[in-house]
Amino acid sequence: MANLVINPILDISEILIPIDTEELFGNKNKYALEVGFGDGDFLIETAQLRPDTNFIGVEIKKKRFNKAVKKARRGKVPNIKFLHMDANIASTEVFKPDTFNEIYINFPDPWPKDKHEKNRILNTEFLMKLSVILIQKGHLEIASDHKSYIQETLDTFKQLPLFINSYAGPGYRNELQERIETKFEKEFREEGRKIYYLMFTNGK
Ligand SMILES: C[S@@+](CC[C@H](N)C(=O)[O-])C[C@H]1O[C@@H](n2cnc3c(N)ncnc32)[C@H](O)[C@@H]1O
Repeated sequence: MANLVINPILDISEILIPIDTEELFGNKNKYALEVGFGDGDFLIETAQLRPDTNFIGVEIKKKRFNKAVKKARRGKVPNIKFLHMDANIASTEVFKPDTFNEIYINFPDPWPKDKHEKNRILNTEFLMKLSVILIQKGHLEIASDHKSYIQETLDTFKQLPLFINSYAGPGYRNELQERIETKFEKEFREEGRKIYYLMFTNGK
């Protein structure tokens, strides 16, 4: 049997953008996106469990991107592509509107110093971009250990009627069943830190 060669790199210098996702994987399966995938474990393991969905990850740091690409190559995961890019740019330039059924943002950098808060990715402008590339009724899931960032994000969503919070009460959950843990998630849980999960439905 021929050795299956799978290239997990999404190289936008070789294809037309915004991309034709059907051509990219050669099927009509649904799409999921992870923003800031780090070492890629969450995306790789989720893609292995769900071969009927195509997964795309966007990561700005080259070292982490390379590490994830290596792992995906070793695992021969056919339904995954990694893009080395700023997700702020990818969301408007690379993906067409209504591409994704699900979007994940796991442990976005919290930028804990007051003077750096402006760098947080979960701002109104970025969430509006995500609403465009997410299908109507698609899900946006966020995880973080940073309570004040979560609170700020909940306030940002309140200003955005585009998204409907799926969780009642405080608007977040601290446990989720059947979730693949990310590298940061594992570390924070081992340290005994509380994790906050958000889920929003795109009501555009
Ligand atoms: C705290 S790490 C979490 C990594 C991984 N999601 C996890 O939970 O293990 C945040 C990641 O987001 C990436 N990142 C930050 N800003 C980004 C952007 N604008 N576009 C793409 N990735 C970004 C960082 O390089 C980093 O890998």
